[in-house]
Formats: sequence, structure tokens, C-alpha cells
Amino acid sequence: MKHFTIGAVAALVMTTAAQAQQSIVVGHSLSPTSHYGVGAQAFIDTLTELSGGEFTGEQAPAGQLGGERDMIEGLQIGSMDVVITSTGPLGNFVPEIYALDLPFLFRDYDHARTVLDGEIGQELLDKIGENNLVGLAWSENGFRHVTNSQRPVRTPEDLEGLKLRTMENQVHMAAFEGMGAAPTPMAFPELFTALQQGVVDGQENPVTVITSAKFWEVQDYVSLTGHVYSPAVVLASPILFDGLTEEQQGWFMEAAKASAAATRAEVNRLEEAGVALLLENGMEVITDIDKAPFAALAEESSYSVYTDQHGGEMIERIKAVE
Ligand code: PAF
Repeated sequence: MKHFTIGAVAALVMTTAAQAQQSIVVGHSLSPTSHYGVGAQAFIDTLTELSGGEFTGEQAPAGQLGGERDMIEGLQIGSMDVVITSTGPLGNFVPEIYALDLPFLFRDYDHARTVLDGEIGQELLDKIGENNLVGLAWSENGFRHVTNSQRPVRTPEDLEGLKLRTMENQVHMAAFEGMGAAPTPMAFPELFTALQQGVVDGQENPVTVITSAKFWEVQDYVSLTGHVYSPAVVLASPILFDGLTEEQQGWFMEAAKASAAATRAEVNRLEEAGVALLLENGMEVITDIDKAPFAALAEESSYSVYTDQHGGEMIERIKAVE
């Protein structure tokens, strides 16, 4: 019979425990205290708790591992585990998702959340699953507004000729071209410096992002255009997810739901408190905006980017959700 020293047994136990424990990296573009950071932490905490410590995790915040497009590619090749991303670049991977990025489509937060939590949201998560990605849960970025360093924007004429950074999203670019701006697609990690150096005059993002990125340091005006609702989604790598047991997959889905709930709660909080923060930090906040002319131009120029490929049925279904 073979004899083991106590040290050897301890080493074996420790090695086995280390092998059984897996640390999951949750990548996102914003600070650890942002609405995405809060969501990433909720994901990690819930996963750790449900798995009894079998899974732990850490955040890779602030675009440390690349822009959203890079991180999505990382999921497909297995170099990323879990990513919280806006749908901005996702249409490049899953064209049906462009429907969610159409300007002036969602009436308000309740409308958007009801759509995403219902049948349509599930259908679109399934579409993500057909494209070498795993859509775990719909999360949230928020309604987007225009900021710039040149002038208050109240009408489409005020946008004329403004060099405006957009996400790498064909629908958004077409919409801003239609509204008169000169859209410049760019990954988010490059944006602050581009604004600082005047490569672009402005950008558009929700209050959640304008505050967490401290854009008041490089932008003077924010116009509450609310021109598009920006969903976010918690994605996993199929290479990681398909190797999990059914029980483990269930933990990941529950963790993603907890993440989305925490992020939405933080969006709610910042929708209440964010504008005061912008004012305190010296931004001029423009609220007296007639959205109708923006909507007419944006719809005319951008809806066909989606409908030419997919028709108008999904748009009608989204509009019909109460
Ligand atoms: O503007 C963007 O690229 C996105 O809104 C951001 C800030 C990365 C959050 O998803």
C-alpha cells in the first residue's frame, strides 16, 4: 500500500480545490462605480454565492480589454468570458439587433423594459445565440443625449456640420447624417482624447455615461434629445458556456438577471440625480427641445438600414407593446 505524507495530501487537496474553482472575467467599458460596474459586481457576487464559491470573478472595467466590438470578438474566440455591452456594435454580429437601435422607437423606460423582458427580448436573445455568442440577459445603458463643445443644440439646424462621434452602428450613423451632423464612428476608449483634442466636437450617450466618463471636462453643452434608447446585454462566450453543466449554466443566467436588475436600478438613480451633477460641473443643460423635427429626419434616413433587410414587422410589434 502506498503511503502519502500529510504535506502531499494537503498539496493534492489544494490543487484539486484550485482546479475546481474558476475565476470569471467580466469585461465592460466604464468605471467600476458606473451602472455597468455595479452590474458587473452583482454578476460576480451572485455567481459566487449560487455556486458556493466554485466560480469567483473580477471586473475588467474601463475598456481595459478593448472597445465593445473587440470584447464581443473576444467572446467568439474564447479570450473573454462575460461582457456587458451596449447593443451599439452588436448589429455588426447579429443584424436583427439593429431594430433595437432605431431612433425614437421606444417611448420611455417602461416601454423599452417591457419589450426586452417579454417575447421580443427572448427572440432577440435567441438570435444572438445563433451567432456564436450567448445572450444571457438584457441590461441597460439608457436614453442617449447629444453633448458638444461648440453650441447649444435645440434644433436639427444646430447640429449642422458638427463632428459627432457615434458608436460603430450603421443605424446611428445614418440617423445623424439625416439630422445634419457629420457622424464619426469610433470605439469608446478613444473618445475622451478625441473630444479633448478636438478631433470631434461632440458625442451622444446617456446621462449614466456622461457622468461616469466626466465628459464635463471636455464638453460644455448637453441637449436632452433622448434620440435613441440604448439597451445593454450581458453576453457570455459560447466556448465557456457550452462547457458548463446545466446547473452551472443556470447560475450564469441568474447572475446575469441580477446584474441587469442592479444596472437598471442605477440607471433609475442617475436619471433622477444625473442632470444636477451635470449642472454642478458646469455644463449647460438644454431641455427645451422639440423632438419632432429630429425624429422625422432620423426616421427618414435610418429606418431603411433595418427595413431593407428585415422588413417592418418587428418595428410594428415593438411599437404595439403597451
Ligand atoms: O458610447 C458607447 O460606445 C457606449 O454607450 C458605451 C459608453 C461604451 C456604453 O455601452
